Amino acid sequence: MAAKKLRIGLVGYGFMGRVHSNAFHQASHYFDSEYEPELVAVCGRDKANAEVHAERWGFSSVETDWRKLVERDDIDLIDIAAPNDMHHDIAIAAAEAGKMIMCEKPLGRNAQESQEMVDAVEKTGVANMVWYNYRRIPAVTLAKQIIDEGKLGKIFHYRAKFLQDWTIADDLPQGGAGLWRLDAGVAGSGVTGDLLAHCIDTAIWLNGPIDNVSGVTETFIKERMHTLTGNVEPVGIDDASLFLARFHNGSLATFEATRYARGHKALYTLEINGENASIMWDLHDLHRLEYFDHSDEGRVRGWRSIHVTDGDQPYMDKWWVPGLSIGYESSFVHQFADFLTGLEGDQPAMPTFRDALATDLVTDAVLKSAQTGQWESAGA
Ligand SMILES: NC(=O)c1ccc[n+]([C@@H]2O[C@H](COP(=O)([O-])OP(=O)(O)OC[C@H]3O[C@@H](n4cnc5c(N)ncnc54)[C@H](O)[C@@H]3O)[C@@H](O)[C@H]2O)c1
Repeated sequence: MAAKKLRIGLVGYGFMGRVHSNAFHQASHYFDSEYEPELVAVCGRDKANAEVHAERWGFSSVETDWRKLVERDDIDLIDIAAPNDMHHDIAIAAAEAGKMIMCEKPLGRNAQESQEMVDAVEKTGVANMVWYNYRRIPAVTLAKQIIDEGKLGKIFHYRAKFLQDWTIADDLPQGGAGLWRLDAGVAGSGVTGDLLAHCIDTAIWLNGPIDNVSGVTETFIKERMHTLTGNVEPVGIDDASLFLARFHNGSLATFEATRYARGHKALYTLEINGENASIMWDLHDLHRLEYFDHSDEGRVRGWRSIHVTDGDQPYMDKWWVPGLSIGYESSFVHQFADFLTGLEGDQPAMPTFRDALATDLVTDAVLKSAQTGQWESAGA
């Protein structure tokens, strides 16, 4: 039976606000923990909308100013599910107030903001984590286990893509609710910090640090009406971003993200080729890990399509019976459950703010390389 209360204050009731609220409820239904989450307050600028979220998801109060939320004595943990320009100030204020922090990705709009956030949580010693949820898809976690056991042998190649198509229309405005991702001042960057950040986090986790990168970006639509000013303004984000990378282990990589791949909504794929085996994974078929093992007997050797739903596969013993699937939202349930487990022991749940800083160093290097036309170091 859970004994310790974990009193949560959530900032943002949009897409991630809903996904996180679901995770707070579901985690204790499926995973054992000493902690019992209590949904104390949700914060958003629009009080009526915040009240709708509070009513629907069981938060007992609302705030319209995140500073008031952070100051409250009845909150242990601040969860940041607001746009990227809010992460830095909220996280630093929360750390200074001694609150635990869970923050959405990317950690900051650039590595400098992220470094300041790392400094704040490390100075005050508060528990912290960034919501890079794709690590917690069971098939991706299984890939990590297979790689860590050395089954791939020496790794030669890493290949990742994240493709969408929702910004092709040239009359789509930028900025404001729902479209803040197109406003560089709020988002920090375009697909590099939004989509590639996910690919980079998973890649560093699976294949180790990235040493240097060579990137190219494009902004296909140069001006858009800004929702907040009503004026046509230059577009500052990258619409597409592609880069080559060298990992510290000697492997070579290609990464690609765009919002201009007609027909693709959220096609996140990755492939890793090692001397003994290869793996492939595709978000649209998230339960499957494709696995090729060269040591299989030649006559029956081929790509295996592993349906990752069995009790001896990551996380799946906590859900239904073998063969039955879980969904996108479950990766957040796993991540919150792991965060609680991290609070109970000496090993905090990853990625911590410091782990996530590594991704922002890579995205900064990609954007710099796209400007300079040179290879750029992705190290600290
Ligand atoms: N882990 C993932 O897979 C994933 C997916 C989507 C978004 N994200 C990240 O989550 C964050 C939020 O994205 P989203 O898609 O939920 O955005 P969203 O636009 O759906 O929601 C943003 C929320 O923040 C609130 N907000 C904005 N300014 C605020 C302020 N000053 N004070 C309080 N609340 C404020 C808005 O009212 C809204 O409720 C971003 O950092 C984004 O990069 C992560």
